[in-house]
Amino acid sequence: MEKQQKSSHVVLVMETFQGHITPMLQLASILHSKGFSITIVHPELNSPNPSNHPKFTFISIPDKLTESQLSDKDAASPVWSLNKNCAAPLQQCLEKILHSLHHIAAVIYDTLMYCAQTITEDLGLLGIVLRTGSATTMLFYPAFSQLDEERIDFVYEIKSPELQALQLKRLRALLSQNATKAMTEVRVAFANVLKRSSAIIVNSMEFLELEALSKVKQYFPAPIITIGPLHKLAPAICSSLLTEDDKCISWLNKQAPKSVIYVSFASIVNIDNKQPFLWVVRPGMVRGSEWIESLPNGFKESVGERGCIVKWAPQKEVLAHAAVGGFWTHCGWNSTIESICEGVPMLCRPFFGDQHLNTSYICNVWKIGLELQNLERGNIERTIKRLMMDMEGNGIRNRAIDLKEKAAFYLMEEGSTSCSFNMLIKHILSV
Ligand code: UDX
Repeated sequence: MEKQQKSSHVVLVMETFQGHITPMLQLASILHSKGFSITIVHPELNSPNPSNHPKFTFISIPDKLTESQLSDKDAASPVWSLNKNCAAPLQQCLEKILHSLHHIAAVIYDTLMYCAQTITEDLGLLGIVLRTGSATTMLFYPAFSQLDEERIDFVYEIKSPELQALQLKRLRALLSQNATKAMTEVRVAFANVLKRSSAIIVNSMEFLELEALSKVKQYFPAPIITIGPLHKLAPAICSSLLTEDDKCISWLNKQAPKSVIYVSFASIVNIDNKQPFLWVVRPGMVRGSEWIESLPNGFKESVGERGCIVKWAPQKEVLAHAAVGGFWTHCGWNSTIESICEGVPMLCRPFFGDQHLNTSYICNVWKIGLELQNLERGNIERTIKRLMMDMEGNGIRNRAIDLKEKAAFYLMEEGSTSCSFNMLIKHILSV
């Protein structure tokens, strides 16, 4: 088996945003550790640094994305353009690899690079899609695209506690509001590739979304392989597009256990003036500002030792730090599972897309967080105290620890992750 894997070559087609680059590189590292050789094909925008991953071959393809497409408020617009512009170069690239290697065991592509599925079919290759968000998100695409409205309505009607607590119908209505043409087209494309792909890999753990997963499995014919949490399985790799600022770790070392709220999301708000905080403000995150110029004059100075503001943090290390007692997050899927794995309760402030669904899981199903709907100063203070200190939040904090333990067990030899990886390897080697 090992020898066979040594000669097996997997091509991964990467998408260009941070929340997608990281899980793809983690998957690549794990497959490499199992003996596969790896080529990563990626758009020019946000190219990963090959010197951080010397064992992989990187091939860049032109994406022709314009500034206006990238700054479009409609997040689907660059995804649509990316697929339109990358399809031909990706096809040529795969043909070239095939010509020189004579064999590609599988092409694993990000859902957002959906153009890859048709190309792999045309070349007679095994196409496998990587869903970097939760499995449950897959229930939405056929409904949005109205491919199978009746059947999806049936799924939403199922009387299971998990699905009811998720409020899928409400989320679906929320996400359907103001859907642009590009968004609808992208969703139709997602639904199509999820139906045509030979297997679907999901960076999740079965127990997190058990009920929804069984519905997803009924709906999509391909095997669904839940191989998360990838960040715990992959060797530590540097996948950040920005430089991580390690000084926040020495600052955390000086704080009391569970006293710090880690804030990482795209907005500017006030927080209580005694609460220690570590805040990530990505350069350019606040529209029209380079970094923190829009904070009140003297804010940074007045914070002193009580707060630490950085441009980018080593997030996994921060969440695992004993001083961190809460995570104020936009609820991206990677952040959500990274927080679960460290038992950190979450303060949720979703912005768009799957972040609303993840918030629903965190607050209504797993009950390990609170949603912050009202950004009024007093409300923020009360909610942080409830999450991190007050008796009222005990249940939330205990459940967060329980979920962390469940995740740790899942990762052990007798847990489900290793079975999933064996299933994936078998699938790749099956052709
Ligand atoms: C995007 C979408 O927003 C998200 O909803 C979707 O599920 C995936 O794609 P993103 O917004 O980047 O992702 O959020 P998230 O999925 O949480 O990924 C962010 C990654 O950046 C995490 O792995 C996190 O550890 C890392 N990060 C973040 C850092 O390493 N340092 C930081 O300072 C902030």
